[in-house]
Amino acid sequence: MNKNIVERLNIYKKFFKILIDYARVNISFSITYVSLLMLDSFAKIFSIISMAPLVDFLSGDNVGTQQITLFFKDTLSWFGFEYTLGSSIAVFIIGSSLGLLTEIFLYSVSRRNAYKLQYHFISSGIKRFFGQGLKFINSQSFGVIQNTFQREISQAGDGVNEILLFVSNIVQVLFMLALAFSLSVVMSSITLLILFLIFIIMYSSSSSLIERLSTKTTISGNDVSQALFEPLLNAKQILSFGRSKHAINNHSKVYERHANDAVLSQTITYSIPLIFRTFGIIVALVAMYISLSFGESPSAVVIALVALIRITPIASQIVASLASISAAVPSLNQFELLFGYIFQKQKQKQLISFDGFSDKIQLNNVSYSHGTAKNSVVDINMTIKKNSYVSFIGPSGSGKTTCIDILIGLLRPSSGHVSIDRDLLEEVDLDSFLAHVGYVQQTPFLFNGSIRDNLLWSNPSATEKEMWDALHLANIDSFVSSTEYQLDTSVGDRGVSMSGGQKQRIALALALVRHPSILVLDEATNSLDYESESSVIKALDKISHKVTIISISHQPSMAKNSDYVFVFNEGEIVESGTYDNLIDSKNSFLYKMKHK
Ligand SMILES: Nc1ncnc2c1ncn2[C@@H]1O[C@H](COP(=O)(O)OP(=O)(O)O)[C@@H](O)[C@H]1O
Ligand SMILES: [Mg+2]
Repeated sequence: MNKNIVERLNIYKKFFKILIDYARVNISFSITYVSLLMLDSFAKIFSIISMAPLVDFLSGDNVGTQQITLFFKDTLSWFGFEYTLGSSIAVFIIGSSLGLLTEIFLYSVSRRNAYKLQYHFISSGIKRFFGQGLKFINSQSFGVIQNTFQREISQAGDGVNEILLFVSNIVQVLFMLALAFSLSVVMSSITLLILFLIFIIMYSSSSSLIERLSTKTTISGNDVSQALFEPLLNAKQILSFGRSKHAINNHSKVYERHANDAVLSQTITYSIPLIFRTFGIIVALVAMYISLSFGESPSAVVIALVALIRITPIASQIVASLASISAAVPSLNQFELLFGYIFQKQKQKQLISFDGFSDKIQLNNVSYSHGTAKNSVVDINMTIKKNSYVSFIGPSGSGKTTCIDILIGLLRPSSGHVSIDRDLLEEVDLDSFLAHVGYVQQTPFLFNGSIRDNLLWSNPSATEKEMWDALHLANIDSFVSSTEYQLDTSVGDRGVSMSGGQKQRIALALALVRHPSILVLDEATNSLDYESESSVIKALDKISHKVTIISISHQPSMAKNSDYVFVFNEGEIVESGTYDNLIDSKNSFLYKMKHK
């Protein structure tokens, strides 16, 4: 039990720390919010005590409220008004309207803040997602990432916002309690004591239950995302295997489990403040009965009753906040597990800006593991001179793609290092280096938009002529000019309106239109027919020795025109040399690959 309380306090501390760090970076918000909160608290008090003259007037009793009523009388006469039923009602109307206005205003500010907080979470999530690099991205399950951005982040943001509401509601309750106590000690003490007991009982019985249920909801939420979006994004695979019913059933099963978890935890979270509110009013009425029999002034007791009844919804808000924070814990945990603490200062290493490739790229004793027991590339040494044309040849799974991802800095070697010209690649600002690289991936990706959109995405300053030149080099220009809308032809979502070969050649044009110093083609002729393949090879010949070309393939013939070949097998470079030298030797790996 004790340990439980400490753990719980630590959770609130965690959310509170985020709130404080957030307030630090949003000073103007903090000042606005605190001032509004104070204004609202005073307005609430004012709206309650503005009932005093009215109650006095109606009951003829002003034993307990004399001073308040006197204050209003003085104020009224200062403005030249008499103390009448009419002016008492007017005071009450003004008091309530003021309370209403500040409350609405405070609510709107706090909603705006909730969105801002959520945006903080999302934007820092996106930044960290890209910032952690390809290894992290490769190792994540799609459902977890999707669900984190879709659901968990807003839950975590709500948790922090609830801490803010919690603190402001406590402030307001203290104000109101002070008022209630000053009017009726007996009634306020009884109410406070009983409500506190109810609070402790409800809180201790529910919060760990809510947290457990929310953890289940988070996990099943991850599963729902996976079960929904994986089939949607791979619809062709699903359709061609005739497995759409299976996908639908699978989703429905996971969804039902998620809904059950969520409904239960939401119902509990929802009903706690309701129970509290109902009990609050009952308790206050009973306390009123007792304090009247103790002989307290009826007019004071009435006003105190109003104050206590006004406290109940705020107090139940406090209880609700605690429940929501418990519900947000698993979401915050998932966020921090993926991306770390939201306001963590990122270590800014001073990186060298890369301003042009001048000499060579070198890999020294590079090994890499994708997190599996076996290294995917082992002790690679290679030098690639500027403007040379090299090939990586090797069977599928031999480590070619992994090696190129290391070479261009997308993956950090587990051991060894990569250098570019005279600098270590890890000390170079990666985006500035990649601006000089054109990479045609094994499975190329096109954005939903026109061919022009895609080319401009790759090189925002490309001119019309540069675009056509790139398309021409990639041997796709005649296809584009044969279409009705030319450069404005849509490629469809993820390029679905194009054939595999067209898509691959547009991807090549995307790489070429940025005038790369280093052009990387990973199985770029994979989905091309013989004719298109030879025209791509011709295109490479056209630019060879003007740019550095690294061409990757499982087909030995693709290496024919290159200056130098690195042959990969099981993660190692088993041989290297010119194509002719290697292929001439009947013992060479390359020869055996070709004649298998
Ligand atoms: N994201 C990944 N996670 C785990 N293992 C991977 C990942 N990507 C590649 N591998 C493994 O690394 C090895 C080399 O893969 P890869 O570099 O893609 O080979 P190639 O491009 O030559 O076909 C393979 O055994 C493959 O299973
Ligand atoms: Mg590959």
